Amino acid sequence: MKKTILLTGSTDGIGKLAAIDLVEKGHHVFVHGRTQSKIDQLIDEIKNKVEHANVDSFCADLSDLDQVKVMAKEVKQRCPRLDVLINNAGVFLSSQRQNKDGWDLRFAVNYLAPRLLTQMLLPVLDESANSRIINLGSAAQSSVSLSALNGTEQIDANSAYAQSKLALTMWSFLLAKNIDYPKVIVVNPGSLLNTKMVQEAYGKFWSSADKGKNIIVDLAISDRYAEITGKYFDNDKGDPFGRFGKAHPDAYIDEKLIALDRCSQDLLSKYLEI
Ligand SMILES: NC(=O)c1ccc[n+]([C@@H]2O[C@H](COP(=O)([O-])OP(=O)(O)OC[C@H]3O[C@@H](n4cnc5c(N)ncnc54)[C@H](OP(=O)(O)O)[C@@H]3O)[C@@H](O)[C@H]2O)c1
Repeated sequence: MKKTILLTGSTDGIGKLAAIDLVEKGHHVFVHGRTQSKIDQLIDEIKNKVEHANVDSFCADLSDLDQVKVMAKEVKQRCPRLDVLINNAGVFLSSQRQNKDGWDLRFAVNYLAPRLLTQMLLPVLDESANSRIINLGSAAQSSVSLSALNGTEQIDANSAYAQSKLALTMWSFLLAKNIDYPKVIVVNPGSLLNTKMVQEAYGKFWSSADKGKNIIVDLAISDRYAEITGKYFDNDKGDPFGRFGKAHPDAYIDEKLIALDRCSQDLLSKYLEI
């Protein structure tokens, strides 16, 4: 069945490859980026490659939660129903350390933005579409410091990235416990895939970007995952595909999930007001 899919961070890396593949497979894909010219280039590339391409776009800088809110409202207007939301956009190294709220950029883009976007889009990700959310986690996960999350403690980029990815994983598990739909899967697409993020940070890679693209596409559209929720797929655990596995131990401790949830809701409260 052809699906309507919103894929954030589609202008580069595994998100771009996944967007092209999903359109080629006949799905209606809403791509997303933060730079209009990169989005336009991507749409041209897709339309040159795929006859009758079913592709549309949204533009928003996810480090700015006001832009996330505007985008979520636009999505609700233009997509009365979404089958799949793929929260793929992410940042590791950046010259900008914090966003305008004083939150570390990695916490803002990798955790708070997808959380706000998802929360606002829940009404269009309903049971009638058997909806699912695919959240991009990572093998890099470390215990979340709530003072780093709220911006009162400064931490380095590696720690902030790993904490933001565990925060997204923990919240995904909590969300899955609380709702029947959408189903929620977190995926580590594979470590050191050959993308811009990895080249900028390490100047080398372990696996092709296609390894990550293939698992995102499979998790998004295959019926095999239709009933799976609150699970972590570890694509480092096998080739070409990994398997479901264990996330960081904190993700299974209810008190930690609740403490993270309270702190995050406090931070996002001003954006969640109508
Ligand atoms: N590559 C790996 O080995 C690996 C491993 C584990 C997890 N992951 C995760 O997989 C996801 C994709 O990573 P990738 O390696 O494909 O990275 P990438 O090549 O750097 O692509 C990241 C995408 O996110 C977008 N993005 C970054 N900051 C943004 C912002 N502030 N607002 C809106 N969009 C923004 C980028 O937009 P621009 O095109 O404008 O830069 C790009 O489209 C990330 O969540 C990453 O953490 C990757």
